[in-house]
Amino acid sequence: MKNILLYFLISLSTEGVFGESLSVKEGGSVTLSPQLTEIKKDDVIDWRFGDILIARVRYNNNPSVYEDALDGKFRGRLKLDGQTGDLTITNFRNTDTGEYEVSNIINNFRKTISVTVMSAVEVKLVSVLKGDSVTLHTDLTEVHEDDVIQWRHGDTCVAEINKTCDGPDGRFRDRLKLDHQTGSLNITNITTADSGLYEVKISSSRRTINQRFSVTVIVGFMFMREGSTVILNTDTEIQRDDEILWKFGDEVIRIDRFNRRVDSRWRNISVSDNGDLILANIQSDQFGDYDVEIKNKSALKKLQYKVKDVKDYVLH
Ligand SMILES: *[C@@H]1O[C@H](CO)[C@@H](O)[C@H](O)[C@H]1NC(C)=O
Ligand SMILES: *[C@@H]1O[C@H](CO)[C@@H](O)[C@H](O)[C@H]1NC(C)=O
Ligand SMILES: *[C@@H]1O[C@H](CO)[C@@H](O)[C@H](O)[C@H]1NC(C)=O
Ligand SMILES: *[C@@H]1O[C@H](CO)[C@@H](O)[C@H](O)[C@H]1NC(C)=O
Ligand SMILES: *[C@@H]1O[C@H](CO)[C@@H](O)[C@H](O)[C@H]1NC(C)=O
Repeated sequence: MKNILLYFLISLSTEGVFGESLSVKEGGSVTLSPQLTEIKKDDVIDWRFGDILIARVRYNNNPSVYEDALDGKFRGRLKLDGQTGDLTITNFRNTDTGEYEVSNIINNFRKTISVTVMSAVEVKLVSVLKGDSVTLHTDLTEVHEDDVIQWRHGDTCVAEINKTCDGPDGRFRDRLKLDHQTGSLNITNITTADSGLYEVKISSSRRTINQRFSVTVIVGFMFMREGSTVILNTDTEIQRDDEILWKFGDEVIRIDRFNRRVDSRWRNISVSDNGDLILANIQSDQFGDYDVEIKNKSALKKLQYKVKDVKDYVLH
């Protein structure tokens, strides 16, 4: 049970359009579970993919996987647990996406689990200057009538078409607009708290599309004189367990904020209690982009500072 369950979308299960959904990396493994406490006498647990029986487990019998089903589509890639009824699909392919149904003939139990592929490539990187607006574009040219479109920021639902979602505790107020043609999301006057991961899920009877966006908020451009001191702050009230990751370009700056130490290689850079980066006596090769990611259990913040040589400042 290790290489499994890569990402969980919060399921909004009121027996509804969503049911349970899972996303898995292409080539990864996923375990689908009927979540039964035990398999009782007479139980017959069936797994179907698009109406076709692919696996069955009966009480006190060896589990069977039907390798020839669907022209051998799943051959060698299904594992069925005879104790729990859990079905594992290994080496998950794009063509394996869809609805998996598990049922128990005996007590009319039925549940569908929708599985989509989530490859790293699908995360679109978006940078936006604090205070500006940004549109996160879906790949759709039109929204169909029966589409349900849901946008999440972290694990909060922030916007939805044709379902009601509570929205993000007033944080976005009137700053979000959903384009009813394309499902794209427009955020105005962006704040640092708006940074992080966004996910849109578009689903109807015909299709399920997931897209992800990683939004970095550029906190500011700082034009500095060589030899001066710059403080780049995390703009967050850091808690003890929060993870802070600073980078200069692609290079990670290793910090220990409890000892206020920075890997010695980064000359004249130190760190505050709050994880702020202090660049003293900045040298010409230290101008560039500084990124910070601040992560806790429920949120991810991604900020960037562009530290530039004042000599490069151009008046417009
Ligand atoms: C988002 O909406 C605002 C307000 O309607 C608009 O001014 C802005 O151009 C839009 N932003 C983008 C990036 O499309
Ligand atoms: C949403 O539902 C309403 C009726 O409930 C329908 O008229 C509309 O076309 C649906 N789709 C969108 C994208 O709003
Ligand atoms: C943008 O948000 C800030 C607070 O984050 C607020 O002070 C400012 O008035 C807002 N600007 C606009 C144009 O709404
Ligand atoms: C570090 O900063 C001090 C002054 O703050 C300076 O004298 C020294 O040369 C700097 N060291 C490096 C390697 O830049
Ligand atoms: C996680 O971080 C966000 C924003 O940085 C903050 O609003 C939230 O309270 C934090 N949650 C926990 C559990 O620390």
